[in-house]
Amino acid sequence: MYRIAVMVSGNGSNLQALIDNVHRNARVDAQIVMVICSKDDAPALERARAADIRAEVVTLESRGGDRQRRDGEVVRLLRLVAPDLVVMAGWMSIVTPVLLDAFPDKVINLHPSLLPAFPGMNSIADSLDWGAKVTGVTVHLAEETVDGGPPILQEPVPILPDDTLETLAERMHGVEHRILTRAVTLFAQGRVHRDPTRLRRMIVNDGGS
Ligand code: GAR
Repeated sequence: MYRIAVMVSGNGSNLQALIDNVHRNARVDAQIVMVICSKDDAPALERARAADIRAEVVTLESRGGDRQRRDGEVVRLLRLVAPDLVVMAGWMSIVTPVLLDAFPDKVINLHPSLLPAFPGMNSIADSLDWGAKVTGVTVHLAEETVDGGPPILQEPVPILPDDTLETLAERMHGVEHRILTRAVTLFAQGRVHRDPTRLRRMIVNDGGS
């Protein structure tokens, strides 16, 4: 059984996609074993509890604003469930090497742009404001550089002339739910590896099954 931990901060619609399509999918031998949330009032917590998944809250404020201390507590909790993969699915806080070094090449992040375009916390609004014609979704390995690790899956999303933040965000979320599910399933099937000759490259054996 492949063990997945999910880190969230807000609505948790991507967590829900993983619950519906991976956790509850008899064809994928994987389970979400813990959800860690950075906010104590996030709707994502209710989604985890409704699915009987252990949910823990670790706020930055409760650790005096010290990210390393916060990540130390996240690592302590994650080690209790020995995850094979840690998925940042709408985790809106910068993580430190305390977390990344504890789970090398096992922490992935979902980001709402075609990285390296539009990194940061407001990428959907930034892409609209910039007048881009195309944006997209990236699932990438997390590294210390914010939104900087090598991509695992990317998918473009056109920006339409009449798009508002709401209409674009809605289309983006649909793509996010699909490609995050796909990426996590590929990991669980052992089909994602670093290229041994070019470490910035991820080899993804996406046979379409
Ligand atoms: C998603 O759009 C995700 O890509 C974004 O937060 C949203 C969470 O939605 N993450 C980032 O911007 C990370 N820099 P959700 O809580 O409904 O899954």
